[in-house]
Amino acid sequence: MDFIPYTKQSLNIDDIGAILKSFGSEFITRGPFVEEFEKKCTQFCGAKYAVAFSSGTNALTSAGYAANLSKEDTIVTSPITFVGTVAGALKKTSKLILQDIALKTASCNFKKLTKPQNGRLFLFPVHFSGIAQTIKKPFKECIIIEDGCQAFGSKYLDGSRVGSCPHSDMTIFSFHPAKTICTGEGGLVTTNSKAYYEKLLLYRNNGIVKKEGSDPWKYEILDLTTNCNVTDFQAALGISQLNRIDTFIIERRKRVAQYRENLTQLDYISFLDSKYDPYSAHNLLTILIDFEKIDISRKELMIKLKEKGIGTQVHFIPLYHHKYFQEHFDFEVGQFPVTEQYFSKALSLPLFSHLTEDQVNYICEIFQDLPKSCLI
Ligand SMILES: Cc1ncc(COP(=O)(O)O)c(C=O)c1O
Repeated sequence: MDFIPYTKQSLNIDDIGAILKSFGSEFITRGPFVEEFEKKCTQFCGAKYAVAFSSGTNALTSAGYAANLSKEDTIVTSPITFVGTVAGALKKTSKLILQDIALKTASCNFKKLTKPQNGRLFLFPVHFSGIAQTIKKPFKECIIIEDGCQAFGSKYLDGSRVGSCPHSDMTIFSFHPAKTICTGEGGLVTTNSKAYYEKLLLYRNNGIVKKEGSDPWKYEILDLTTNCNVTDFQAALGISQLNRIDTFIIERRKRVAQYRENLTQLDYISFLDSKYDPYSAHNLLTILIDFEKIDISRKELMIKLKEKGIGTQVHFIPLYHHKYFQEHFDFEVGQFPVTEQYFSKALSLPLFSHLTEDQVNYICEIFQDLPKSCLI
């Protein structure tokens, strides 16, 4: 059997055709395919506006910019996330609060939030693995920027789509190859606010606006930002992938159900809450393993699995375990007990839309007989 990576993009002949077709048009940078992709994303998510970016990280940074995040403001998020959630925001403010996660969702649910004396509170809920958290504003002035990088296509428990921003200011997605749909690199912000929309466009294009009604060559620099445009051929790929998103999610969901059926009876394995399965786009399949019980370390297991042709990954090393976060903020290892428990057990198994039933059976057979299956 060929090596089974923990994640992989699903590209087909239609995707390649769409990219080639885009090369036939006048634009190779941002052009009409980007506009069409954005329009299709607003329809899919149920939001008024969408702006495509060169990555999820840049989209997150631009959302902070659009909401005028400043050094007075405080940001609150989960320690179990990718650094991109906060990387841009922490260039604007150094006030960072992390909250412990819930073991069933690997996300934090923002308890005990009070209005800061100075500045505003920015919440960055992370929809880990595709599980959408419904987070409402604890008070009116609070800003919510949803990190939905792992949740394109997911729904909240009330059936509305992540990206429709029912309780948030903006929602961010990533189209990295590990995500539900991919554009190579890429990201998106959705919002229902025209004011945010206009600032997102400004941020993406070096703070430049065209001067309508004046000389045709005139433009104006309103602010110093950056260039995080996405190209037309990436957007063409995005449109083609979006056409198949329902199939992608159905296939991922089937494989998750198969993992659950084969592994739930094992007392050394537990899953995140199954209540979210019908709603999640299933970006990752992260399980919790009691490594002490099976007398094999995570490192040994990952090495053995790799030898057997199975890729695995750990999502994520808690932010506060990184030296940078300990040196720049007041964090220390051990600070968040549930996060510690989660991190000591977490392992992401292969999950992507063209993963086959046979491949999952092969993986499950190994997990059903641990540690013996890995000692041979
Ligand atoms: C939770 C989360 N936030 C942010 C990002 C950043 O997205 P990108 O890799 O497109 O910059 C990712 C993707 O890796 C992610 O998983």
